[in-house]
Amino acid sequence: MTLVNTKKMFEMAYNNGYAVGAFNVNNMEITQGIVTAIAEEQAPLILQVSRGARAYASISYLKAIINVAVEENPDIPIVINLDHGDNFETCKQFVDDGFTSVMIDASAHPFEENIKFTRKVVEYAHPRGVVVEAELGQLGGIEEDVVGVNDVSKNLADPDHVVEFVEKSGCDSLAVACGTSHGAYKFKSEPKLAFDVIQKIADKLPGFPLVMHGSSSVLAEFKDLINKYGGDMPNAMGVPEEAISKAAKMAICKVNIDTDLRMALTAKIRQVFAEKPSEFDPRKYLGPGREAIKEMVKHKLHLLGCAGKAAECM
Ligand code: G3H
Ligand code: 13P
Ligand code: ZN
Repeated sequence: MTLVNTKKMFEMAYNNGYAVGAFNVNNMEITQGIVTAIAEEQAPLILQVSRGARAYASISYLKAIINVAVEENPDIPIVINLDHGDNFETCKQFVDDGFTSVMIDASAHPFEENIKFTRKVVEYAHPRGVVVEAELGQLGGIEEDVVGVNDVSKNLADPDHVVEFVEKSGCDSLAVACGTSHGAYKFKSEPKLAFDVIQKIADKLPGFPLVMHGSSSVLAEFKDLINKYGGDMPNAMGVPEEAISKAAKMAICKVNIDTDLRMALTAKIRQVFAEKPSEFDPRKYLGPGREAIKEMVKHKLHLLGCAGKAAECM
């Protein structure tokens, strides 16, 4: 079993100018697609579970699936992270369930309360060997169970607050709102990230790992397939791949990706349904979806620079 927390991973990522991909899992096929890519590319891995994923699949099933991935890949360091924990009780539950990392997202609360909520989670998690990710600023986009704001440019993380936040809260990494948002509709016009904000925060917190949420690129390949085969996502737009690469070379050590997994799976399922209307064996459409996820994740690992870095993160 090589379940680890993020400490060594982030130290290596920070010092060597790459980022680790944090992929959301909701079922077996998604997990297998990700893990096969990771094994083929020998990359470190963060698998994450949202409250929505837990409600959909149950923690026992998800943990069992993840445990198999961990057991079958002893050479790969794997972190399991709670994505967007909303309160202390949720975080405590995931720590007690054996997660090695939890995110407390109290970013919608006023600054002092965000510190207080985060501190409480840190005090429970740290003695149990679990690391804590916190969030400053607010991301855009509204997804099920993850409430964001609509104008991302107005709610960026404030570089003048980060030192006080990290010192007082004791968090191990910090998600910084820098212009991205959750979901498939991130930008209405030209996509733009606040690299100046990322750099200012990095300058104030030397050596400290930052996290970028909402980092899917909404790949044209899958968007086009979805639209071609009866879907309706004409205005979907993600973070350009060059921007992901650039952020990964900066202090961003963890890059969160969910939407691109969903779109890869959906695109392939739609394609099979459209091209083979008589097909009703789930393996015949989930299988191509899983394969598309694998190829897409392999591509991401090169973009993030973490391909081949598994051994140094152990
Ligand atoms: O950050 C949000 C993730 O994409 C999880 O979304 O709450 O619908 O599982 P979810
Ligand atoms: P995307 O919606 O861009 O994939 O972001 C996922 C995320 O940030 C999960 O926490
Ligand atoms: Zn997120």
